[in-house]
Amino acid sequence: MDVIHLHPKEIREHVTPLLVLPVYEENGSGFPSIPDELTHEVERAFLKEDIKAKMGESLLIYLKSGVGPKRILFVGLGEKSLLDSELLRRFGGHAIRGAESLGVSSLTIYPGCLESEVAEESYQAIVEGAVLAEWHYNEMKTDLKKSKDEILQSLEMLAGEEIVAEAKAGIEAGKIIGEAANFARTLQSRPGNIATPTHLAKEASKMACQYGLKVTVMGPTEIKENDMQALLAVSRGSSEEPRFIILEHAGGDSNDSPLVLVGKGLTFDSGGISIKPSGGMEDMIFDMSGGASVIATLQGVAALGIQKNVVGLIPCSENLINGAAMKPGDIIGSREGKTIEVINTDAEGRLILADALSYAQSFKPAAIVDCATLTGAVIIALGHNAAAVLGTDEDLVKELEIAGRRSGERCWPLPLWDEYRQQLESEVADLSNIGGRPAGTITAACFLKEFVSDYKWAHLDIAGTAYGEGKLSYQRKGALGFPTRLLIEWVRSRAE
Ligand code: BES
Ligand code: ZN
Ligand code: ZN
Repeated sequence: MDVIHLHPKEIREHVTPLLVLPVYEENGSGFPSIPDELTHEVERAFLKEDIKAKMGESLLIYLKSGVGPKRILFVGLGEKSLLDSELLRRFGGHAIRGAESLGVSSLTIYPGCLESEVAEESYQAIVEGAVLAEWHYNEMKTDLKKSKDEILQSLEMLAGEEIVAEAKAGIEAGKIIGEAANFARTLQSRPGNIATPTHLAKEASKMACQYGLKVTVMGPTEIKENDMQALLAVSRGSSEEPRFIILEHAGGDSNDSPLVLVGKGLTFDSGGISIKPSGGMEDMIFDMSGGASVIATLQGVAALGIQKNVVGLIPCSENLINGAAMKPGDIIGSREGKTIEVINTDAEGRLILADALSYAQSFKPAAIVDCATLTGAVIIALGHNAAAVLGTDEDLVKELEIAGRRSGERCWPLPLWDEYRQQLESEVADLSNIGGRPAGTITAACFLKEFVSDYKWAHLDIAGTAYGEGKLSYQRKGALGFPTRLLIEWVRSRAE
């Protein structure tokens, strides 16, 4: 979908099959953008209580013939005082859903009279919501008849003269960030038989060429040379080769220490010999969501031209079962040198991340942030509305919380106290790969902490947020692209 920016004309004369206008829930005083000649019609609808303008509630009116919009869709924004960028994102999503259900090929959104201080952020949020809403995964469908949600071609945004520059900047950023998240969603959605470690590496390389990033892909030989014994141990149970992807964006000074992002790229998690129950196991194609998100974040960071050095590391493997697969009780090595007793082969994410985190230090990073669908326990702790964030640096954790709120991809802190480390004690190795049932998300993070020495590091457990039912207007069931928007927002905040 193209996102086009337009100067304001008389919106009454703007030719479009569908004009979308927001309304606030404030007893009739909340028409931020209605042209005078329409006020009467809309007021009547309000008086009849056809619409109360609660968030997402909508009312469609048809205009008499003549030039100008054919239809107007009013979309409620709720109370004006509660408006924030997440609600505008949802508003953008509702606009697209409205256009889809009408089957129109283009739509125009006029967000109303926004103050210039908030215009850029607001336009960004609306476009993000629209771009996210429009995405769908249909690569594997052979029926070429277009469904209604594929007819939409373009979105036009109107802006008042005084905020045109801000609107333009917001539209541009919203499009880049929305498209980055959608790229993550496409990679996430691809089935395990297609999105193998080799496939992810190819896709990352293709993207890197397109966006001017440096890319290095390590195969089994280089992974061995780099002593990534834990990654190799996990991949041994599969006939698909592992890959270790390195993406580099050189946006800052050459001697500035980079931000390093690490994403779990486990392309299918059967659990290994500690096999998972078969019900719902198909969702384990999403176990590479962290990796997809880091690849997509690098795309977004490059497209935005952020003046920071940023590195993305994605250890990629399957977790399957064959005669060479690791077994409960095995003791494996790691790049860091520590030995690990594998009590449960399903706790594999932390093993491949351990080697990636250890490798991250070779960049002398200003900070390391990893994201991984690491534990079912995070769903018990926080459900599907927030990722867990844990780290060695309070300020970094705070920064991620703020970036989460601003991007609409929230995360919430859990403690990483030393006491929890005791649960990882092993009789025979330096540490065990599981810490028992209590505080599973925390002990998983404690495990990772063993491999980052003194660097500033934070971990996002995204098992509950990377994919889901897709209840918001801009989502669909399945891949959600989480935490691509969060990570881009965080990198942007570091560049300010
Ligand atoms: N990939 C899973 C975590 C997961 C669970 C992701 C649910 C998405 C939804 C991970 O590799 C795993 O299996 N973790 C185990 C750890 C346990 C064995 C300590 C878990 O959470 O059960
Ligand atoms: Zn697992
Ligand atoms: Zn896993």
